[in-house]
This record gives sequence, structure tokens and C-alpha cells, in this order.
Amino acid sequence: MERRNFIKKATLTGVGLAVGTSLSRCTDVKNQSNQQQNLTKGPTAICTWRFTKANAVAGKALMQGKSALDAAIEGVQVEEDNLKNTTVGKGGAPDRDGNVTLDACVMNPKGDCGAVACVENITHVAALARKVMEETPHVMLAGKGAEDFAYSQGFKKEELLTQSSKSAWQTWKKSSKYNPIINIENHDTIGMLTLDEKGDIAGACSTSGLSYKMRGRVGDSPIIGAGLFIDNQVGGAVATGMGEEVLKTVGSFLIVELMRNGKTPQEACEEAIARIVNKNQQYKAFQIAYIAMDKQGNTGAYCIHEGFTYMKYQNGENIAISPDYYYHPKS
Ligand code: GLY
Repeated sequence: MERRNFIKKATLTGVGLAVGTSLSRCTDVKNQSNQQQNLTKGPTAICTWRFTKANAVAGKALMQGKSALDAAIEGVQVEEDNLKNTTVGKGGAPDRDGNVTLDACVMNPKGDCGAVACVENITHVAALARKVMEETPHVMLAGKGAEDFAYSQGFKKEELLTQSSKSAWQTWKKSSKYNPIINIENHDTIGMLTLDEKGDIAGACSTSGLSYKMRGRVGDSPIIGAGLFIDNQVGGAVATGMGEEVLKTVGSFLIVELMRNGKTPQEACEEAIARIVNKNQQYKAFQIAYIAMDKQGNTGAYCIHEGFTYMKYQNGENIAISPDYYYHPKS
């Protein structure tokens, strides 16, 4: 495949991608046009990756009249419970010492937020983040304190390391070099944005983070503004991928601010990716993707590498959308 001229355009503009020709590049797997997507309105759920069931659960909850926050947490829990998903919840890959540690955050339409970081033995960490938001005077709890708080709120202690994640970790330990595999090993974080029938937006983000990370490492996902940001007057954004790079650019907050200043969700996601690649010459080695939604239910997404897909539930339809991507290597 010919590498397209996106990088050159980004460099020439200085502030990011030339968006004029790139706005309608986002196409779903059935080649639905961008125009059609943006004309549809109503309760909407979008989530990172092809988490079809999780997004459908959230979408249907919205159609039943549930709040944006309830729907987002219900949707995210599908992946937290999914033992086959090795980067979210129970079954997540451990750190390099064999401990599964989870991160999550939530934001509601009022702008309240809650987060937990580096939590062990608790599966539903997005729901726990909500408890931090609603039941404590704080925004974030970490480690053992977050775990103890979970028990005080009725969460049960669970073994998060499955036999299959343990075997994969043991195999990894025997290898001499650690190279995360783009789109597979390091970032199936579920980030979800929901727009309910009242027109309110909320979001949730949940992950086990980078596979075989150092003990104590926390990425972007529980950090409000990096992994998730909502402004109910504007819209919301969530990130997936190499959290360190999202943290450095406060990516989700950036996208919402760009939308506040007139960018479409698609334009805002493209500029946020451009900010990362323009600052980091190593961008070919990692994947980052953003998804965003505005108050009308218009959505956008952009990523560094091919292979990212997001789900969109709107008007009773749950579709997979594969956005275009920044880096087009010569094959
Ligand atoms: N985006 C998930 C992480 O880097 O932890």
C-alpha cells in the first residue's frame, strides 16, 4: 500500500493534520458514508474496539431510558467480566511480577468524576470508580486503599489471574525482550461514551493496562482528561493505546476542548493523534486511538495504525466502524 501524505501535511500545518480532505475518511465495515453516520441522532453508545456485546448492552440500556452513566457502566462491565479479554478486568494480563492490577474512571454529565488505579482482586472497577465519585469526597483512590474501599461498599474479592493469562505471562517471562504487539498485547482498554434520551453525556473507561508493566505502573485510563473526558455542554472523548503517550498530551481533554472550539469529533481526534506523532519519533512502535462524540451524537475516531475498530449504537443499530489511520507503511 502506498503511504499517503498525511505526515507531511501534519508537519506543514504545524498544528496537526490538514483536516479538509480527511474529515470523511471514517468508514464502517459496510462502507457506510460519514454523512449518513452524522445525520443519525438519539441515544447513542460508542466504545473502543470491536466490543460488540458491551456496546449493545449500553445502547439497549439507553433505549430503555437508563441514564448515560448507568448505561456506560453496564456496557463496560461486559468486558470486565469477559475472561477472554486479556486487557480489561478479570482475565487481564498481569504485571511483570504476576499481579493483575486494574485502572478505571467514570465521568457523569454534571462533570463529577471518580477513578481507581492499581486495584487488585476487584473485577468491576468502573463501578468502583463510580462509588469513589458518589460516596467519597475524593476523585481517585489507588492500590490497597481502593481495594479496602471496595469491600466496604460490598464488592467481592476475586482472583483476577486466569490460568490462561498466567500461562501467557510465564511464557513471556522466558523471553529475553519485551516488545508489545501493536493492537494485540498492550491496549484493548474499553472506553465508552454514552448519550442518553435526555441528551446527557457520560463515559467510563476500564483496563488492566499495559501487559507485563512494571509493578505500580498506571497509564492514562484512570486519569481524568487523559483516558476520558466529558463536558456535557460539548461532548466527550476516550482513549485506548499506549497510555504514557496519551498522558503526555492529556488527549481526551484536548479533544473536548477542540470540539468546544468548533472542530467536529473527527477533526478533533485527528488533531489529538497529530499532536502525539509530531512530538514522538517512536510513534510507529505503538498504537493509540481516540473516539469522540458531540452533543448531537455525531462521532469520530482516529488512530496511529491500521487495525483499530470502534462500535457505534444508534437508532437500534450496532455497527463496527474502522477509522482511517495516520501511519500507512509501504507494504
Ligand atoms: N491505555 C491503557 C494503558 O496504557 O494503561
